Amino acid sequence: MIDLIKKLPKAELHLHIEGTLEPELMLELAQRNSIDIPYSTVEDIEKAYNFTDLQSFLDIYYEGASVLIKEEDFYSLTWEYLLKCKENNIVHTEIFFDPQTHTQRGIPFYTVIKGITEALNDAKDELGITSQLIMCFLRHLSQEECFKTLNEAIEFKHDIIGIGLDSSEIGNPPSKFKEVFKKAREEGFKIVAHAGEEADCSYIVEALDLLKVERIDHGVQVINSKSLIERLIKEQIPLTVCPNSNIELKVFESYKKHNIKELLDLGLNVTVNSDDPAYFKGYLNQNFINIYKNLNLSKEDIVKLVRNSFNASFIDEELKKIYLEKVDKILESF
Ligand code: HPA
Ligand code: ZN
Repeated sequence: MIDLIKKLPKAELHLHIEGTLEPELMLELAQRNSIDIPYSTVEDIEKAYNFTDLQSFLDIYYEGASVLIKEEDFYSLTWEYLLKCKENNIVHTEIFFDPQTHTQRGIPFYTVIKGITEALNDAKDELGITSQLIMCFLRHLSQEECFKTLNEAIEFKHDIIGIGLDSSEIGNPPSKFKEVFKKAREEGFKIVAHAGEEADCSYIVEALDLLKVERIDHGVQVINSKSLIERLIKEQIPLTVCPNSNIELKVFESYKKHNIKELLDLGLNVTVNSDDPAYFKGYLNQNFINIYKNLNLSKEDIVKLVRNSFNASFIDEELKKIYLEKVDKILESF
């Protein structure tokens, strides 16, 4: 089964590019850019990755991102993740980026998007990996700040397929951003949002009703509302679940207590993703392996999760069909 997990082509739909910053590259960029970080070795950094909840992670994650200054830094960050995609047999990836993490430090929007998109273009040519970019608003900031960021993004519309919402969830509900998402929809962006990671189901309902999301990022708290489960099944709204992240941020006590198998068995449109793999002990295959080992997943479960990843993606029907045929091809040999 582990061999099957590794060999199946997969799509990743919930991945923060800033969350792929490996300790080695963080140290290298800190030195290259003369940025002070409170670590001098990889071991120092790994010791700090001991999270108690989402906020304890975000504090360290934003500090890590402070070493990203130049276009080439964003290129290196993205390229390294794309090499991991190759290793993990991720053939299509929909990547979140958080421009406000950088523009707030005086880094131009253009620097961020140019570095990332150059790497994505090279990956298409050299590695055969297709990709889309989703720009996230930081929900701990004001809606007014988000309007400014959206206005900057419009110029790069051709490079950005959608708009999402991340950062500190509790206390920053989707309703806080209703107007800016309305404008984003009018501009033609697809909409997703983190909801029901730590906060209750009302955040998922608001994301659906007020932001009009096409996918829910995380969404594992849906388990507490029977009516919402029924709605998500009926509308087949995908959930981009991130097992390693949920364990590292103490959303669940252990892999054995994770509810992804339960959600899948209920008929929800669930996918597996790595969220911030450099911080959460593993890339996509490791997420699959961890749930497979602890939750008694069958071959059918794994295949369903992999097929869901393509069906829930923003790629066109023609390419979707090509990828799903590649999945079938691998299955023929198992
Ligand atoms: N939740 C909220 N914000 C984030 C996350 C997450 O899982 N990862 C990076 N920013
Ligand atoms: Zn996330």
